[in-house]
Amino acid sequence: MMQICDLPTAYAGVHLPAKVALAVTQKPDDQFNLITIEWFMRTSIQPPMFAISIGLSRYSHDCLEANRFFNLVFPSPEMKALLTLCGSTSGRDIDKFTAGDVKFIAGKLHKLPILTDALVNFECEVVSQVRSGDHTIYIGQVHYSWHNSDKALFFYPEKPKPE
Ligand SMILES: Cc1cc2nc3c(=O)[nH]c(=O)nc-3n(C[C@H](O)[C@H](O)[C@H](O)COP(=O)(O)O)c2cc1C
Repeated sequence: MMQICDLPTAYAGVHLPAKVALAVTQKPDDQFNLITIEWFMRTSIQPPMFAISIGLSRYSHDCLEANRFFNLVFPSPEMKALLTLCGSTSGRDIDKFTAGDVKFIAGKLHKLPILTDALVNFECEVVSQVRSGDHTIYIGQVHYSWHNSDKALFFYPEKPKPE
């Protein structure tokens, strides 16, 4: 029976299991930061674009205001602990690359790190942004794409196993 309810009740029924990603940004001091995100989407085929929604309170928001690039990273199951770290700590307080022992190589667009344990990395340049309540949606044009054929995609929480 369809019944009116509060938003968290309705949302809990539809938003899991979810794909999660990491966004790499550049700190104002030129170091790099990582944030776990669930709110992202492909928004254009040509040119290819992705949007990411970043809370105003996140340090990643400061980073994107300072440096207009991000790498959208689709993690592998081996990166589960890193996703927890990057979703529960702030780059204001720690260096997540050191804390998470992150393996990376330099990207081609703006030298933001390409995470080599990931399935896919997209190097994006911010081309527009929209305020959305307590978040900003940053729309990034993809300039370079990377794929690791040895890796699978991580789902958060992990997909239920078939009976
Ligand atoms: C599974 C998961 C999904 C998340 N999705 C988002 C998101 O889409 N946007 C966002 O701003 N924060 C999201 N967060 C919260 C940030 O990852 C978290 O606040 C992080 O500590 C911010 O780091 P920063 O201050 O270094 O930017 C998510 C956290 C988790 C665990």
